[in-house]
Amino acid sequence: MTIATQSPTEPGLILALSKGRIFEDTLPLLEAAGITVTENPETSRKLILATNDPLVRVLIVRATDVPTYVQYGAADFGVAGKDVLLEHGGEGLYQPVDLNIACCRMSVAVNAGFDYETAVRQGARLRVATKFVHTAREHFASKGVHVDLIKLYGSMELAPLVGLSDAIVDVVSTGGTLRANNLVEVEKIMDISSRLVVNQAALKLKRERLQPIIEAFERASRGASCINTK
Ligand code: ATP
Ligand code: PRP
Repeated sequence: MTIATQSPTEPGLILALSKGRIFEDTLPLLEAAGITVTENPETSRKLILATNDPLVRVLIVRATDVPTYVQYGAADFGVAGKDVLLEHGGEGLYQPVDLNIACCRMSVAVNAGFDYETAVRQGARLRVATKFVHTAREHFASKGVHVDLIKLYGSMELAPLVGLSDAIVDVVSTGGTLRANNLVEVEKIMDISSRLVVNQAALKLKRERLQPIIEAFERASRGASCINTK
């Protein structure tokens, strides 16, 4: 079986997006660039969506896979959260615009009642469950806190509830998920928003087509801002 792919030397443009909040928040930016996605990923099972421009198509991939598709040139550009980009490493990616969408923060949370400050001060070895192992490792290393990291792929909030870990590192927005699970945010690690990512080779070979889109995204996102106060 052959899979239809394109190399960065072909004229069309391929954008990688994840379903849900990134897709929704990117639609107005695409509109600002004159691009309308003509299919809805929530109702269609298609993974390659058409747009009003026959030369622009949208790949629907997992949020964590967006940088990989763009790095290898299977997509020319994409939108990915800073959390995801830090885990990926950013190799082969040009990141020209902070789009100020999908705003949240990366935080440490524990069971209500767990004395995090004392545990950290006393040099206890913390068990930390997270999808974001790179960010968590860097964060605790910078504080000189010894941790055992437990890699999870979702529903991190469950880990402290069932004794799998002492703490979690996860993204927080309204704090509703933490509250619903009787967890407390004890430390903000960083603010998170989503970035436009562009394949470095595509930027050179398709600059004429990509540059106006990058500029339209930049203009359209200029007014937006992420305010993540705790
Ligand atoms: P995957 O599908 O690969 O497991 P995911 O489920 O984390 O990834 P989304 O939930 O669509 O994917 O999140 C996409 C991005 O949106 C994240 O990488 C993060 O930057 C941001 N994000 C995650 N949760 C929230 C939230 N509750 N509020 C705002 N932004 C968020
Ligand atoms: C994310 C994250 C938290 C939640 C935080 O989950 O993993 O569970 O959002 O948001 P809140 O502070 O507003 O409650 P998401 O909604 O993306 O679900 P998923 O991880 O299952 O995709």
